[in-house]
Amino acid sequence: MRYLILNEGESETRVSLLPESATAIFGTSFFGMVEKGAGRKASRSDADYEAAGIKVVTREEGLKNAQLVLGILPLSDADLQLLPEGASVWGMYQPQWHPERLKVFEERKLNLYSLDCIPRISRAQSMDVLSSMATASGYQAVLEAAAALPRFFPMLMTAAGTIAPAKVLVIGAGVAGLQAIATAKRLGAVVEAFDTRPSVKEQVESLGGKFVEVEGAREDKAAGGYAVEQDPDYQRRQAEAIAKAVAKVDVVITTAQIPGRIAPLLITEDMVKAMKPGAVIVDMAVSTGGNCALTKTGRHDVNGITIIGDSFLQRQKAEDASRMYAKNLQNLFKLLVKEGVFQPDFTDEIVKGCCVVRDGVNNLIKH
Ligand code: NAI
Repeated sequence: MRYLILNEGESETRVSLLPESATAIFGTSFFGMVEKGAGRKASRSDADYEAAGIKVVTREEGLKNAQLVLGILPLSDADLQLLPEGASVWGMYQPQWHPERLKVFEERKLNLYSLDCIPRISRAQSMDVLSSMATASGYQAVLEAAAALPRFFPMLMTAAGTIAPAKVLVIGAGVAGLQAIATAKRLGAVVEAFDTRPSVKEQVESLGGKFVEVEGAREDKAAGGYAVEQDPDYQRRQAEAIAKAVAKVDVVITTAQIPGRIAPLLITEDMVKAMKPGAVIVDMAVSTGGNCALTKTGRHDVNGITIIGDSFLQRQKAEDASRMYAKNLQNLFKLLVKEGVFQPDFTDEIVKGCCVVRDGVNNLIKH
């Protein structure tokens, strides 16, 4: 089998497979190609790939010859046109929200494994790219906040006086939020967290955070562990609790998302105005509208409050984020390849979830 590792282009820093990961997955029994410059921003040169026995090619040459294309960002329709019929593409396509991306796969009888569609069940944890990327971005969110804050995170007792620790509020204690809590604690901050899913209280507390409780949240088992929209009375009480907490802290990190919806608006303009001078908000939900009313993509200042809107903070840890992504690919590969031959079991829940187009047939499971 001939596989191709894509160069993800200007906006991206990650690569789907580092050379050492490619060797671990494919050994020498597969013919490897890598698009020129693919690993540059993840600290890997073309020579590193060549040393691993992988041929450096142009995008066109690679796409025309690949049977398996490994990437992160969606390929353009023009790129898909170059692939040989029957080729398989692995990447993150978000087909639930972008069904138009599947059209060329269907027309050209291609296969698409969209890794963001791997079901979030225990057996699939080692393949879960969403969790890996959320871990990297939750970590980076805290580093961004610490760098932007004009105060220290830890308590410091020095000859020049005692500095009180920074207070951090994390809103949304999913994978990214829990990593943010752990990182902020390691840096010495006092951390509070809030989530509509009361079931995460224990996890927050086990990381040394304080859980801000608002009673009466609606949880829906059918939502597969994800959050669901809350009723107006809960939203009002939640807003009061958040307003109180936001006014006291130095840093707010927001990660709150509801799959398939605009992110809940949790920090109003008035709440921002009531924050301490110099405070920092890192809004990781900006790509779905943001959790703060004043968030824009990038970094800006609102009356002395720094607001950072970034849903791709994992790009700033390109090497380790790529390593984690590659490990997820490796575990998926083990599931799909038996005795060196690509033979997915299409009755397997994981395969059914992520193989959204099979030989041109759209198999997307709608939620
Ligand atoms: P996410 O990125 O969809 O959302 C982030 C967090 O925001 C969630 O914890 C959510 O409850 C919270 N949130 C949503 N609306 C909110 C609001 N109005 N106020 C405050 N918080 C709000 O979530 P993520 O991190 O992708 O994971 C969510 C869940 O998925 C996990 O807790 C778990 O149940 C499940 N999961 C399962 C895995 C597995 O078994 N393979 C792996 C990872 C996650």
